[in-house]
Amino acid sequence: TGSAVLLSWPFLNACEGLSSKKNESADPDFEPDLDIDLTAKESQIPLFQGSSTKVWMFETKINTGADDAIQQLNDIYLGPILRVRKGQKVRIRFKNKLPEKSIVHWHGMHVPEKYDGHPKDVIENGETYIYEFEIMNRAGTYWFHPHPHGRTGPQVYNGLAGMLIVSDDEEEKLNLPKGEFDMPIVIQDRAFDQENQLLYLNRGRMDKMMGFMGNRIFINGKPDKNLNLKAGATYRLRFLNASNSRFYKLGWSDGTPLTVIGIDGSLLEKPRSLPYMMLGVAERVDIWLDLKDMPKETELTMKSLPFSTGMMNMGMMGNMGTTLPLGSEYDVLKITLDTLENNNIELPEKLLTLNKIDPSEAINEDNPRIFKFFMRRMQWMINGRTWEETGVADEETVKLNTTEIWQLLNSGGGMMGDGGMMGGKGMMGNGGMMKGGMMQMPHPIHIHQVQFNILERDVSDMDPDVWNSVKEGFIDDGWQDTVLLMPGMKIKIIMRFEDFKGLFLYHCHNLEHEDMGMMRNYKIE
Ligand code: C2O
Ligand code: CU
Ligand code: CU
Repeated sequence: TGSAVLLSWPFLNACEGLSSKKNESADPDFEPDLDIDLTAKESQIPLFQGSSTKVWMFETKINTGADDAIQQLNDIYLGPILRVRKGQKVRIRFKNKLPEKSIVHWHGMHVPEKYDGHPKDVIENGETYIYEFEIMNRAGTYWFHPHPHGRTGPQVYNGLAGMLIVSDDEEEKLNLPKGEFDMPIVIQDRAFDQENQLLYLNRGRMDKMMGFMGNRIFINGKPDKNLNLKAGATYRLRFLNASNSRFYKLGWSDGTPLTVIGIDGSLLEKPRSLPYMMLGVAERVDIWLDLKDMPKETELTMKSLPFSTGMMNMGMMGNMGTTLPLGSEYDVLKITLDTLENNNIELPEKLLTLNKIDPSEAINEDNPRIFKFFMRRMQWMINGRTWEETGVADEETVKLNTTEIWQLLNSGGGMMGDGGMMGGKGMMGNGGMMKGGMMQMPHPIHIHQVQFNILERDVSDMDPDVWNSVKEGFIDDGWQDTVLLMPGMKIKIIMRFEDFKGLFLYHCHNLEHEDMGMMRNYKIE
């Protein structure tokens, strides 16, 4: 009998290893087109003159796949850009060499629960988590970042974020700019101390509730905001707002309208011309830039244009000491045209057919599921709940293979609050410091696993000054995964729950709000 025990001992161990929830072994039957190591680690880089800056970075290595699947934005901070095609199989071996727990999420991607980077799947320093999935999304601009509960803000801030660009056959036919003419532009705001070290929130809980606002803009992980492009060429500029809390009203400084061709997870049906574009945290927008008639040495500037923040009290918006108050005007990007090259690409008149969802397909067409985003007792909430790692309520449970309409409400407290949720002991009441609904803030709302269509943006309860200053900057047309829900706004979205059951997240993508618990599970069963 003793020997039987000895024999079964290693066998049991092996089984445990295989079924481990940590997902640390590769599936030998999965044949990846792209297999990479993605290692998160500490690093030190020369960002400025003088002392180097401590950052966190993703280091990559290709095990299988083409060299151009990975593009480094810079050698040091932020990135990389991963380029994949619909239908490809990818294996990503995430290695955590950070001094804390982490897990990586593929923002906008349609993947099974265990590859979604849920906070419950965090791994410790020294551990590996292997992702193996097929790219099922249509061509679009997606991204990836850590998602450990309570630490997403600081981990992204320290440098952990990259783009995931998906192409497909449909897009290929359009002959859009490629290679160096397909340009990622990651916008972030940062702040530094005298020794060139990154400054994050240091003024306590109030600061966190507002969210981080830096005092300088970084483009693609660099402080100089400069991009050299070629005169005579046409470009596809893929903007990603990877800031923690800041959102932008992007527009060319000379008043030329923006030509928008894509948003989040799809191209548009046809190019659209807008005076400016609002870009909430985690949102993406593809902008067409035609430099054919521009001589060398021309300089173009993209700004964040002024807008009204209304009831969002300026003094409290994390703006203390920042030279870039939210809603003020400042430069985001400077483009200089150096060499001349005509890449002979014309803007197509028609891009593609979006096949958006017909509202009549929804099981709740006249009765949307309602999600209210607000603050109560100094806590950001969704329908009165805050984060629970595996908790999920009935009203957060949907059925596989159904289509639903959800209504998202920024019904923040105080003056705009609805009696039910915010009444009585609500923090706005007699609380003192929070009088008058000052804590109503914009929330960029993101839903994992799906791409949705926006059906309606009801602004009847918005501060008209705020709305009038931003209203031409929204494109409610396309496939999206994140939507900027301004104070008082009500947005109806429609989506299908397909292919994968499981627990997925929906949350505010203001990373400080998210870290404080403005994040919940929803369950597909
Ligand atoms: Cu950008 Cu829950 O993620
Ligand atoms: Cu996501
Ligand atoms: Cu929020």
